[in-house]
Amino acid sequence: MSSGMSSPYLNPDRIKNALRTKTIGREIIYLDVIDSTNNEAKRRADLEADGTVILSEQQTAGRGRLGRNWVSPRGKGIWLTLILKPERPPGIIPTLALIGAAAVCLALDKTDNSLREKVKIKWPNDLWLKEKKLGGILTEMQAEETNTRWVVMGIGINVNSQKSDFPEELWSSATSLYLERKHFYDRDQLIAELLNSFEELYLNFLQAGIGRTLTICRQRSAVIGKKVILWDKGTAREAEALDLGPDGELVVRLPSGEKISLFSGEITLRLKGET
Ligand code: BTN
Repeated sequence: MSSGMSSPYLNPDRIKNALRTKTIGREIIYLDVIDSTNNEAKRRADLEADGTVILSEQQTAGRGRLGRNWVSPRGKGIWLTLILKPERPPGIIPTLALIGAAAVCLALDKTDNSLREKVKIKWPNDLWLKEKKLGGILTEMQAEETNTRWVVMGIGINVNSQKSDFPEELWSSATSLYLERKHFYDRDQLIAELLNSFEELYLNFLQAGIGRTLTICRQRSAVIGKKVILWDKGTAREAEALDLGPDGELVVRLPSGEKISLFSGEITLRLKGET
């Protein structure tokens, strides 16, 4: 949490001082303005070390999933991308995105007690607070057939954004920590907690598999047990979200009783009644 008196700008040294990690965030590339930290990470990925973080105060062309924009006003949020070089096959991508979403939840729990267990994951990896979008994750990669060359994982969190920082059309669907809690948050501290939590879950995954992350994603799911609408290439279907499968896929039951598994791909999911 923050007194509101702290610097409005990020301070990479303060972030590093609060890190307990071995590789994640050991190199931080801090930029004032960039088109998109994911774009910058992709431009630099071959040259930078595993665990490097690209961090920017503002993005002029921030990108979301499914080709959407990501509103990234200056000094208001966490707009960062992690460069990862896992020695794993390319199928690892959805798993990494789950780890990212779970890490955001843990970091917010640790940062502010009043947020404990309040941030939810709307499958596949939207971050939700009070049924509005607080953040999201955009994972991209370059891979050969069996080998992942690099993965860039972009994480966006609306931290100190005011209503006027969002375009009017997002007022009913987007939120920030400030809008929900009415005080400013220390973004350096939040970023450090996020990187600490990410590394903990990532190392656990590499050593022991995805179990711990899946447990967190199930506990924090905004959709399990709910009626949902699945949008696939312009057609809508109702279903009931039942569980996450072993690879983070969403298992749903269709009105016919048939159970199917959804992999993130191009499907959009809305909760029934969501605007
Ligand atoms: C989504 O929910 O649609 C994903 C949003 C991801 C936004 C982050 S902000 C940092 C990184 N750079 C980008 O251009 N996008 C991601």
